[in-house]
Amino acid sequence: MLTQMFITNWQRVKNFKARPDDILIATYPKAGTTWLSEIVDQLYFGGMEGRSSNIPIHERVPFLEICVEGFQPGTEAAENLPTSPRLIKTHLPVQLVPKSFWEQNCRVLYVARNAKDNLLSFYHFDRMNKLQPEAGPWDKYIQKFNSGQLVFGSWYDHVQGWWNKRESYPRMLYLFYEDMKEDLTREISHLCSFLGLSPSEKEKERVTQKTKFEAMKNNSMANYSTVEIMDQSISPFMRKGTVGDWKNHFTVAQNEAFDEEYKRRMEKSTLSFRMEI
Ligand code: A3P
Repeated sequence: MLTQMFITNWQRVKNFKARPDDILIATYPKAGTTWLSEIVDQLYFGGMEGRSSNIPIHERVPFLEICVEGFQPGTEAAENLPTSPRLIKTHLPVQLVPKSFWEQNCRVLYVARNAKDNLLSFYHFDRMNKLQPEAGPWDKYIQKFNSGQLVFGSWYDHVQGWWNKRESYPRMLYLFYEDMKEDLTREISHLCSFLGLSPSEKEKERVTQKTKFEAMKNNSMANYSTVEIMDQSISPFMRKGTVGDWKNHFTVAQNEAFDEEYKRRMEKSTLSFRMEI
């Protein structure tokens, strides 16, 4: 499902002209988009005076398909980015990505997160984000997740669609939230190899410190505290930032039913996730 704010500008999204050095950051919502965006922005532009301390992350890395009244559409924000490379965020399933990104052979970064934590994070996000559909009761929310009724559709189709794309599109790096949580510096190194960057150990350490959960939670340019559409008194954007918080929310029965459905849906895929680390 795509809500109105992601389709009103569709012609411009579809016809968006990518540049060869654009970097597309793609995720299913709540998989670690902001985290990866901040890391990549720090790697490229961390040395730019005032940038990360004055410009919120959603302006440094615009959200391509968003179009909300009173705000610059994401396509326009991306077109107007003064920096190179342009870092552009999308939640679109792979088949809806504007074809120009593939034609220009852009680098694409995808981060995926295990279904249970991803779903839980999305639930809390829908509770606090005034532009999102009402979350409703948790039990029903699990069902909506499994039947692909959340915004941006089925998690199963999203993570598998992007996973399968790797086979035909080598300029793509598929990352996992759990790996980033396990060893952030290692994943930053991995990312740098893919991007062709060779920062010093000291610089990598700086980026690691700057993009740890606590640092981002306390950074008003990364934690969305400047955005009025979110009521962070209901649930903060930087909520927990952990792997395995789902255990505190799923009942035993919900978990068993989920596991059964999950197994059925993921059976044929070579993609596997860690639900805990
Ligand atoms: P939780 O709700 O589980 O805390 P997105 O940016 O895709 O909307 O994802 C938001 C989720 O990523 C939230 O998950 C948020 O706390 C988590 N997150 C953001 N920055 C993080 C970081 N530096 N380390 C770990 N998790 C982070």
